[in-house]
Amino acid sequence: MAISIYPVTPDFAAEVGDVDLAKPLSPEDRDAIKAAFWQYAVLVFPAQGLTSDQHVAFAQVFGPMEPNINSYADEIKKERIDNRVSDVSNLDADNNILPAESRKRQSGLANRLWHTDSSFRHVPALTSLLYSRRVAPIGGHTQFADMRAAWDALPTAMQQRIDGLVVEHSIFHSRATIGFTDYSERERTSLPGALQLLVRTIPESGRRALYLASHAFRIAGMPDDEAHGLIAELMAHATQRQFVHTHRWRQNDLVMWDNRCTMHRGTEYDERRWPRDMHRATVSDIGNTREAAAGHAKHAAA
Ligand code: OGA
Ligand code: MN
Repeated sequence: MAISIYPVTPDFAAEVGDVDLAKPLSPEDRDAIKAAFWQYAVLVFPAQGLTSDQHVAFAQVFGPMEPNINSYADEIKKERIDNRVSDVSNLDADNNILPAESRKRQSGLANRLWHTDSSFRHVPALTSLLYSRRVAPIGGHTQFADMRAAWDALPTAMQQRIDGLVVEHSIFHSRATIGFTDYSERERTSLPGALQLLVRTIPESGRRALYLASHAFRIAGMPDDEAHGLIAELMAHATQRQFVHTHRWRQNDLVMWDNRCTMHRGTEYDERRWPRDMHRATVSDIGNTREAAAGHAKHAAA
């Protein structure tokens, strides 16, 4: 039986049924999932029973995995889960709720800011695949913003003003925004930040998208206060409710999103009370956004 696609809106977010991601996919199903992913940018696969091996195997359908570097690496004594997968839980290595002072907990609170994954790396993330093993009974949803629709809705004058701008991203910027700056020199140098295009073109759909995140803090060639104002204006524009889909988790949902053309954020929950156990497999993009665009331009000219 072929997979079933249930769109949430005509081109943003869809649920996918009649597929078991624990098993290798048929070529037809793999192609149908990819086509849906390029169209909808967020896919929800309910009721999946996945081991970490199966989770990773499905992620690798989309490309190579991103090496897992935690900003709070110095705190980790023992990994709680398979180290190919990011631990997005509020749990310690013994599955107890993290204490208030935990650096993992504090760093994780920045997931409540609108962002896209790994824009602070030279080669950012293409897709993240988040799998829920235990959900909070209240809150703890994940929201997604469609950055293609946000680009399409900008006035032409703004599109012309920002096309081609280059933005500096750093994970330590988003953490500083929530007042968390407790990082060692070693942690800081392991994640030095990156330059990314503000407007990108998604090759599979040809659609253009804003590329922004809570990690963005500077624009090349622009005074800092002007850049802050512009970034804040575009973030506010892009996260208006007509561009946003909220996913309310059930246990064993796998949700994947296109980091190139969406932002996401976790909503509040009482993380000192409810265990919330989420595992994320992250696939790397094929290059830095500026190099990818230069490659594109060369192809177009050839
Ligand atoms: C992530 C993330 C938000 C959430 O896993 O990259 O931002 O709701 N998660 O857990
Ligand atoms: Mn994230």
